[in-house]
Order: sequence, then structure tokens, then C-alpha cells
Amino acid sequence: MTIKAIVFDAYGTLYDVQSVADVTEDEFPGYGGIITQVWRIKQLEYTWLRSLMRRYQDFSQVTRDSLAYTLRSLGLEYDDDSFERIIDKYLHLDLYPDALAALSAMKDRKLAILSNGSPEMLGALVRNSGLDGLLYATISVDAKKIFKPSPEAYALIEEVLHVPPAEVLFISSNPWDACGAKAFGLNVAWIERVTPEAMALDCIESDTLPPLTMFKILRTQMDELGVAPDHRIHALAELPALVSAIRS
Ligand code: LAC
Repeated sequence: MTIKAIVFDAYGTLYDVQSVADVTEDEFPGYGGIITQVWRIKQLEYTWLRSLMRRYQDFSQVTRDSLAYTLRSLGLEYDDDSFERIIDKYLHLDLYPDALAALSAMKDRKLAILSNGSPEMLGALVRNSGLDGLLYATISVDAKKIFKPSPEAYALIEEVLHVPPAEVLFISSNPWDACGAKAFGLNVAWIERVTPEAMALDCIESDTLPPLTMFKILRTQMDELGVAPDHRIHALAELPALVSAIRS
């Protein structure tokens, strides 16, 4: 099998969504952890709900709505400036530290992003993080007005890159996304950033489980959806070796 294109999920895979925690804590001292986790959980929920409801709004709107929900639910009062300072971090999320080196090592393939993000959000994020020189394409589900894990979203890869699913390796750390991509027919490598052993330790070691542990339980462990990714790695740094091994 030849892998001609390597396509990445963006949020949580190349970009660390937890990196909003500094700004949420700055704006609401003592609440940074809970805001960060509820916000991301709700953001994804809204993508799925809107897709099922056939009421698409782009990811930038969903991201704003889920932040508004989070602050309201926590009883936090805020002004527009405070809200905008938090939202702005979504255009400046931290890249995982091994992302640039991993992508640079695979420049001989078509490298792309397929993300729920809106074209504007993704364009800014890719530019701000310096990935623009490495990516052949940044594909947004906005073209289909439905979010992953809808098959229509994954179909965009072939439509834009002209590479059939059998020759694409899709990379995600989001278990639901890895399952969706596999169900669609892509080759999938899942980044298991939190091993079951580390997860169990996290749960045993704290008396009261902090919001981040709850998030890890919900969104970092492999889902029970009846499909399994083809490959399991633990960091982007392991990807170039995996891609070479698939070729041979
Ligand atoms: C993405 C989010 C959902 O599609 O992880 O980039």
C-alpha cells in the first residue's frame, strides 16, 4: 500500500486545545480549569447536535456559543472584551511541541488538515503557527455544512486532494474522529496521548477528580463504536517512522 497523503485533524491533534487554560484562568481566576473543559466538551456536542438537527453554523459560531454556555452555566459575569480575549486564543493555540518536526520529516507526501474549523479560523491558526509552508491544503468541513464524523466531511479529502481513501493516512487524537474516519474507509492512526495506565493513575491519585481528569476520561480514551483505528501511536513524533514502515 502506498500512502500518498497524510491528513491531520487540527484541534487536539496538531493544536493543543488545553492551551486556552492560561487565558481562561487569567480572565476568571480559580475557574480556568472548569471553563476550559466544559467549553471543549460543549463545543463538540454542539457540532454533533447541529449536524443531527440539520442546523449548521460554522465552528467559529459553535465555539462562541459553547463558551457563552459555559460562562453562563458557571454563573460568571463577563463583558465583550473579556469574551473576545478568550475567543482570540483559538486563533493562537499552541502547536504540540513535536508537530513541526514531524510534518517537516514527511514533506514528500501531500500533507493536509481536515478539520471542523471554519476556513477563517483555520487559515489564521495555520498562519500564526507557521504550518502554512508545510501544508498542501487546509480543508474545512464548511464546504459540506456538516461536521465530522459525518462521512460527507471525510469525503472532502478525496475531492480536494484527488487521493483515494486507500492511499490516505488520517491522523487524529480524538477517538470519535479516528472511529469516524475508519468507518468512512480511511487508513487511520490514532494518537493515544493518555494511555489507559496513565488514566487509571490519574483517577486513583486524586480524591476529588479535577475537571481535566473528567475531560480525559470522556475524550481521550478509545470509544466503543465498533470500529478500531489501524495504528496506535503516542505522539506525533512517532509518525514519520510509522509512515515509512507502511511503505515497506
Ligand atoms: C477538528 C476538531 C473537532 O476537527 O478536533 O479539528
